[in-house]
Amino acid sequence: MFITFEGMDGCGKTTQFNLLCEHLRNKGYEFIVTREPGGTKISEKIRELVLGNENAGMNKMCEALLYAASRAEHVDKVIKPALAEGKIVICDRYLHSSIAYQGYGRQLGRDTIASINAGAIDGIYPDMSFFIMLDPESVHNRLNQSGKDLDRLEKEAVSFFERVNIGFAEIAKNDPTITVINASDTIESIAATIASVVDNIIENNH
Ligand code: TYD
Repeated sequence: MFITFEGMDGCGKTTQFNLLCEHLRNKGYEFIVTREPGGTKISEKIRELVLGNENAGMNKMCEALLYAASRAEHVDKVIKPALAEGKIVICDRYLHSSIAYQGYGRQLGRDTIASINAGAIDGIYPDMSFFIMLDPESVHNRLNQSGKDLDRLEKEAVSFFERVNIGFAEIAKNDPTITVINASDTIESIAATIASVVDNIIENNH
Protein backbone atom coordinates (compact mmCIF):
# COMPACT_ATOMS: atom_id res chain seq x y z
CA MET A 1 0.00 0.00 0.00
CA PHE A 2 1.28 3.41 -1.02
CA ILE A 3 0.19 6.44 1.05
CA THR A 4 1.21 10.02 0.36
CA PHE A 5 0.86 13.26 2.29
CA GLU A 6 0.33 16.50 0.42
CA GLY A 7 -0.43 20.06 1.29
CA MET A 8 1.09 23.45 1.47
CA ASP A 9 4.20 24.34 3.37
CA GLY A 10 3.47 24.98 7.04
CA CYS A 11 0.14 23.09 7.05
CA GLY A 12 1.08 20.58 9.77
CA LYS A 13 1.74 17.80 7.27
CA THR A 14 4.85 16.57 9.09
CA THR A 15 3.03 16.30 12.42
CA GLN A 16 0.31 14.17 10.84
CA PHE A 17 2.86 12.10 8.94
CA ASN A 18 4.59 11.27 12.22
CA LEU A 19 1.32 10.49 14.01
CA LEU A 20 0.30 8.03 11.28
CA CYS A 21 3.69 6.32 11.60
CA GLU A 22 3.13 5.97 15.34
CA HIS A 23 -0.33 4.51 14.71
CA LEU A 24 1.02 1.93 12.25
CA ARG A 25 3.90 1.06 14.59
CA ASN A 26 1.43 0.44 17.42
CA LYS A 27 -0.54 -1.85 15.15
CA GLY A 28 2.58 -3.77 14.24
CA TYR A 29 2.56 -3.05 10.50
CA GLU A 30 5.76 -3.02 8.47
CA PHE A 31 6.24 0.26 6.69
CA ILE A 32 8.90 2.56 5.32
CA VAL A 33 8.88 6.33 5.34
CA THR A 34 10.37 8.48 2.65
CA ARG A 35 10.04 11.93 1.11
CA GLU A 36 10.13 13.93 -2.09
CA PRO A 37 12.14 15.53 -3.38
CA GLY A 38 14.64 13.13 -1.87
CA GLY A 39 14.71 9.57 -0.63
CA THR A 40 17.85 8.43 -2.46
CA LYS A 41 21.39 9.81 -2.67
CA ILE A 42 20.86 11.33 -6.11
CA SER A 43 17.36 12.57 -5.27
CA GLU A 44 18.61 14.31 -2.11
CA LYS A 45 21.22 16.09 -4.28
CA ILE A 46 18.43 17.19 -6.61
CA ARG A 47 16.52 18.40 -3.52
CA GLU A 48 19.44 20.66 -2.59
CA LEU A 49 19.52 22.03 -6.13
CA VAL A 50 15.82 22.69 -6.44
CA LEU A 51 15.26 24.17 -2.97
CA GLY A 52 18.53 26.08 -2.65
CA ASN A 53 18.16 29.83 -2.35
CA GLU A 54 21.31 30.24 -4.44
CA ASN A 55 19.17 29.04 -7.37
CA ALA A 56 16.64 31.87 -7.25
CA GLY A 57 15.22 32.50 -10.72
CA MET A 58 15.51 28.87 -11.85
CA ASN A 59 13.70 28.26 -15.12
CA LYS A 60 10.31 26.76 -14.29
CA MET A 61 10.59 23.88 -16.77
CA CYS A 62 14.01 23.10 -15.32
CA GLU A 63 12.36 23.00 -11.88
CA ALA A 64 9.58 20.67 -13.07
CA LEU A 65 12.07 18.33 -14.73
CA LEU A 66 14.28 18.24 -11.63
CA TYR A 67 11.34 17.20 -9.43
CA ALA A 68 10.46 14.53 -11.99
CA ALA A 69 14.08 13.35 -12.24
CA SER A 70 14.28 13.03 -8.48
CA ARG A 71 11.01 11.05 -8.56
CA ALA A 72 12.24 8.64 -11.27
CA GLU A 73 15.20 7.64 -9.13
CA HIS A 74 13.08 7.44 -5.98
CA VAL A 75 10.34 5.28 -7.52
CA ASP A 76 12.87 2.92 -9.04
CA LYS A 77 15.21 2.56 -6.05
CA VAL A 78 12.91 2.91 -3.05
CA ILE A 79 9.15 2.91 -3.66
CA LYS A 80 8.79 0.04 -6.15
CA PRO A 81 11.10 -2.37 -4.29
CA ALA A 82 9.36 -1.73 -0.94
CA LEU A 83 5.89 -2.22 -2.46
CA ALA A 84 7.12 -5.42 -4.13
CA GLU A 85 8.14 -6.70 -0.68
CA GLY A 86 4.59 -6.03 0.54
CA LYS A 87 5.56 -3.11 2.75
CA ILE A 88 3.43 -0.06 3.34
CA VAL A 89 5.17 3.01 1.88
CA ILE A 90 4.41 6.41 3.39
CA CYS A 91 5.78 9.29 1.37
CA ASP A 92 5.92 12.96 2.28
CA ARG A 93 4.81 14.50 -1.07
CA TYR A 94 4.68 12.85 -4.50
CA LEU A 95 3.20 13.46 -7.96
CA HIS A 96 0.29 15.61 -6.73
CA SER A 97 2.78 18.19 -5.44
CA SER A 98 4.27 18.54 -8.91
CA ILE A 99 0.83 19.02 -10.44
CA ALA A 100 -0.14 21.62 -7.80
CA TYR A 101 3.18 23.52 -7.52
CA GLN A 102 4.58 23.29 -11.05
CA GLY A 103 1.32 22.72 -12.95
CA TYR A 104 -0.76 25.36 -11.18
CA GLY A 105 1.72 27.40 -9.10
CA ARG A 106 4.20 27.85 -11.97
CA GLN A 107 1.38 27.67 -14.51
CA LEU A 108 3.01 24.99 -16.63
CA GLY A 109 -0.33 23.19 -16.86
CA ARG A 110 -1.62 19.96 -15.45
CA ASP A 111 -1.20 17.92 -18.65
CA THR A 112 2.39 19.04 -19.19
CA ILE A 113 3.33 17.98 -15.67
CA ALA A 114 1.48 14.67 -15.98
CA SER A 115 3.32 13.83 -19.18
CA ILE A 116 6.74 14.86 -17.82
CA ASN A 117 6.10 12.57 -14.86
CA ALA A 118 4.65 9.58 -16.70
CA GLY A 119 8.03 7.95 -17.19
CA ALA A 120 9.15 8.85 -13.68
CA ILE A 121 6.26 7.22 -11.80
CA ASP A 122 6.18 4.16 -14.05
CA GLY A 123 2.53 3.44 -13.25
CA ILE A 124 2.89 3.83 -9.49
CA TYR A 125 -0.02 5.89 -8.12
CA PRO A 126 -0.83 6.27 -4.43
CA ASP A 127 -3.60 4.10 -2.98
CA MET A 128 -4.47 7.03 -0.73
CA SER A 129 -3.29 10.64 -0.56
CA PHE A 130 -4.06 12.99 2.28
CA PHE A 131 -4.35 16.62 1.20
CA ILE A 132 -3.94 18.84 4.24
CA MET A 133 -5.47 22.10 3.16
CA LEU A 134 -4.73 25.49 4.63
CA ASP A 135 -5.66 28.87 3.18
CA PRO A 136 -2.78 30.61 1.34
CA GLU A 137 -2.78 33.64 3.63
CA SER A 138 -2.25 31.41 6.69
CA VAL A 139 0.45 29.46 4.85
CA HIS A 140 2.31 32.67 4.13
CA ASN A 141 1.92 33.93 7.72
CA ARG A 142 2.87 30.62 9.34
CA LEU A 143 6.01 30.41 7.21
CA ASN A 144 7.08 33.96 7.90
CA GLN A 145 6.44 33.69 11.63
CA SER A 146 8.10 30.29 11.98
CA GLY A 147 11.55 31.79 12.41
CA LYS A 148 13.09 29.07 10.21
CA ASP A 149 15.30 29.74 7.20
CA LEU A 150 12.90 29.63 4.28
CA ASP A 151 13.84 27.64 1.17
CA ARG A 152 13.44 28.85 -2.42
CA LEU A 153 9.81 27.75 -2.73
CA GLU A 154 8.77 28.87 0.72
CA LYS A 155 9.87 32.42 -0.19
CA GLU A 156 7.25 32.65 -2.94
CA ALA A 157 4.50 35.31 -2.84
CA VAL A 158 0.97 34.67 -1.55
CA SER A 159 -0.25 34.68 -5.18
CA PHE A 160 1.89 31.59 -5.86
CA PHE A 161 0.41 29.77 -2.85
CA GLU A 162 -3.07 30.80 -4.00
CA ARG A 163 -2.52 29.06 -7.33
CA VAL A 164 -1.06 25.97 -5.61
CA ASN A 165 -4.08 25.86 -3.31
CA ILE A 166 -6.46 25.99 -6.29
CA GLY A 167 -4.37 23.23 -7.85
CA PHE A 168 -4.73 20.91 -4.88
CA ALA A 169 -8.49 21.57 -4.75
CA GLU A 170 -8.87 20.81 -8.47
CA ILE A 171 -6.84 17.62 -8.25
CA ALA A 172 -8.89 16.39 -5.29
CA LYS A 173 -12.21 16.77 -7.15
CA ASN A 174 -13.90 13.43 -7.85
CA ASP A 175 -10.87 11.39 -6.90
CA PRO A 176 -11.67 8.64 -4.39
CA THR A 177 -7.96 8.08 -3.73
CA ILE A 178 -7.69 11.54 -2.15
CA THR A 179 -8.89 12.49 1.35
CA VAL A 180 -9.10 16.23 1.87
CA ILE A 181 -8.32 17.37 5.40
CA ASN A 182 -8.90 20.81 6.88
CA ALA A 183 -5.65 21.89 8.56
CA SER A 184 -7.52 24.07 11.03
CA ASP A 185 -9.17 21.04 12.70
CA THR A 186 -7.46 19.83 15.86
CA ILE A 187 -4.34 17.70 15.58
CA GLU A 188 -6.14 14.83 17.37
CA SER A 189 -9.19 14.84 15.13
CA ILE A 190 -7.11 15.01 11.94
CA ALA A 191 -4.94 12.13 13.18
CA ALA A 192 -8.03 10.06 14.01
CA THR A 193 -9.50 10.64 10.52
CA ILE A 194 -6.26 9.66 8.81
CA ALA A 195 -5.82 6.56 10.98
CA SER A 196 -9.35 5.36 10.30
CA VAL A 197 -9.03 5.85 6.51
CA VAL A 198 -5.75 3.90 6.50
CA ASP A 199 -7.15 1.14 8.76
CA ASN A 200 -10.08 0.74 6.37
CA ILE A 201 -7.85 0.35 3.35
CA ILE A 202 -5.64 -2.16 5.14
CA GLU A 203 -8.66 -4.21 6.26
CA ASN A 204 -10.13 -4.19 2.75
CA ASN A 205 -6.83 -5.40 1.31
CA HIS A 206 -6.78 -8.48 3.52
P1 TYD B 1 8.84 19.60 1.74
O1 TYD B 1 10.07 18.89 2.06
O2 TYD B 1 7.56 18.90 2.02
O3 TYD B 1 8.85 21.00 2.45
P2 TYD B 1 8.24 21.33 3.83
O4 TYD B 1 8.71 20.27 4.78
O5 TYD B 1 8.83 22.68 4.10
O6 TYD B 1 6.76 21.31 3.63
O7 TYD B 1 8.78 20.00 0.20
C1 TYD B 1 9.74 20.78 -0.37
C2 TYD B 1 9.16 21.83 -1.28
O8 TYD B 1 9.12 21.36 -2.62
C3 TYD B 1 7.76 22.29 -0.96
O9 TYD B 1 7.76 23.71 -1.03
C4 TYD B 1 6.92 21.77 -2.08
C5 TYD B 1 7.87 21.64 -3.22
N1 TYD B 1 7.59 20.59 -4.20
C6 TYD B 1 7.25 20.95 -5.50
O10 TYD B 1 7.16 22.14 -5.83
N2 TYD B 1 7.05 19.96 -6.44
C7 TYD B 1 7.15 18.64 -6.13
O11 TYD B 1 6.97 17.77 -7.00
C8 TYD B 1 7.49 18.27 -4.76
C9 TYD B 1 7.64 16.85 -4.39
C10 TYD B 1 7.70 19.30 -3.84
